[in-house]
Amino acid sequence: MLLLHRAVVSAFRHACRFKSTSSKLCIQACSTNDSFQPQCPSLTFSGNNSSTRGWRVMGTLLGLGAVLAYHDHRCKAAQELPRIYTREEVRSHSSPETRIWVTLGSEVFDVTEFVDLHPGGPSKLMLAAGGPLEPFWALYAVHNQSHVREILAQYKIGELSPEDKAPSTLKTSDPYADDPIRHPALKVNSQRPFNAEPPPELLTENYITPNPIFFTRNHLPVPNLDPDTYRLHVEGPPGGQSLSLSLDDLYQFPKHEITVTLQCAGNRRSEMTQVKEVRGLEWSIGAISTARWAGARLCDVLAQAGHQLCETEAHVCFEGLDSDPTGTAYGASIPLARAMDPEAEVLLAYEMNGQPLPRDHGFPVRVVVPGVVGARHVKWLGKVSVASEESYSHWQRRDYKGFSPSVDWDTVDFDSAPSIQELPVQSAITEPKDGATVESGEVTIKGYAWSGGGRAVIRVDVSLDGGLTWQVAKLDGEEQCPRKAWAWRLWELQAPVPAGQKELNIVCKAIDDSYNVQPDTMAPIWNLRGVLSNAWHRIHVHVRANP
Ligand code: MTE
Repeated sequence: MLLLHRAVVSAFRHACRFKSTSSKLCIQACSTNDSFQPQCPSLTFSGNNSSTRGWRVMGTLLGLGAVLAYHDHRCKAAQELPRIYTREEVRSHSSPETRIWVTLGSEVFDVTEFVDLHPGGPSKLMLAAGGPLEPFWALYAVHNQSHVREILAQYKIGELSPEDKAPSTLKTSDPYADDPIRHPALKVNSQRPFNAEPPPELLTENYITPNPIFFTRNHLPVPNLDPDTYRLHVEGPPGGQSLSLSLDDLYQFPKHEITVTLQCAGNRRSEMTQVKEVRGLEWSIGAISTARWAGARLCDVLAQAGHQLCETEAHVCFEGLDSDPTGTAYGASIPLARAMDPEAEVLLAYEMNGQPLPRDHGFPVRVVVPGVVGARHVKWLGKVSVASEESYSHWQRRDYKGFSPSVDWDTVDFDSAPSIQELPVQSAITEPKDGATVESGEVTIKGYAWSGGGRAVIRVDVSLDGGLTWQVAKLDGEEQCPRKAWAWRLWELQAPVPAGQKELNIVCKAIDDSYNVQPDTMAPIWNLRGVLSNAWHRIHVHVRANP
């Protein structure tokens, strides 16, 4: 390219010289001071005789050709300058119709033609459509290799504009301005407060949910707590001593580690909404995730503060350090009997999957109550106390309760129903996606199953015909301890697609070790808050016609 450029520039220079010196000129087609010139004869023009006219014509043509070649080169060079795009422009290219763009560093790529070739499947790459690849490559480090970069380089179309290279900053007047930056794969149900779930194609990709895509359920802005000055206040029993524990103090308790699935009471609410409108965020099937948690056992900390199991009913109340503008903090409670039971393994967790808790998940300390609804796993824990009654928090008494389908907002009496603690048996299909087209021949169906209270999932039944006939799925993942099955089972079924079938109504239902089974439809379990939505999960897919 460099050689060509110099040759053309030289020819152009000669052409100019030819034009300016008219008839009395002496050209050297090969300039002596340009060492890059190809070897060619030296042409000497003198006077106006006929023998020189031919040379002149030829020279003119040569010069004109060189000018045109140079012009063409300049146009190409201009085209080769990187085109500059804003993040906004990149964002608007997120579907096959608009073409699919992604960024890596400051480079912009049009990967439309590559989507179907993506080894992890088109849907995974589509999660990054219109945005940066880094957060996905950080999750799936296999991408960070030179040959992957080489493939990507073929699709480069330009660069990000300089002002768009830095991530945008939030306005400081916003109470949520200090919220952490989130993973773009999360499907956001509400930005402020932040509520988001992993997409189905990532949800069961790993038995352990990676921290950045663990579902997030916040009611308030995320507090920014200093681990050095953090103190957990543990109220002692009447006449006893209260504790004020630093993080270092908590580390002195025996470290306990367990794998626990957390599920929000509103998981799968969007399906209940289809029966009749409910109040609440439109969670799909992803308000559930699994992590390896580590921390001090609550029973050890309560014992140190002098608490004991008592004959009468009592509750352990938790207060978060997140609060609304009136100063009211998030709070919840669990029965003291569960908190004091070493076998219940209730944790004051400071680690999630081997890392300090991420800010969205309660940094520096949160409660983890295995087998119990997510609402009781209080994050950013500030205070623990024991009381004869449940927490007076709104989220304990005026929310997260189940009612009959006949109860509406005019008739509801929140005091009449117990707060949700252990959740019922649950399962959902994560692959294929609802509405997808599957190949004829064989279909692979994947999903998760979990039950509350430590009840193990003993079976998942899958139907391809809306529940007329059933096949048993293979359960993957860790074996579960009886009565302490705190984590989900992932499951898979490979099933032949019945010949001639154009569509499939795929259904799953799980059974736990108490032989509890999911109800078949949502209508009979509909409730005004859309909680406990655990009917058979149903998806509808098309079968690709054989050519
Ligand atoms: N704790 C505090 N302090 N504030 C909250 O908003 N949300 C609760 C619980 N603990 C909440 C909280 C709810 S409803 C759920 S489902 C879980 O946190 C979600 O935990 P996660 O965001 O780590 O997935």
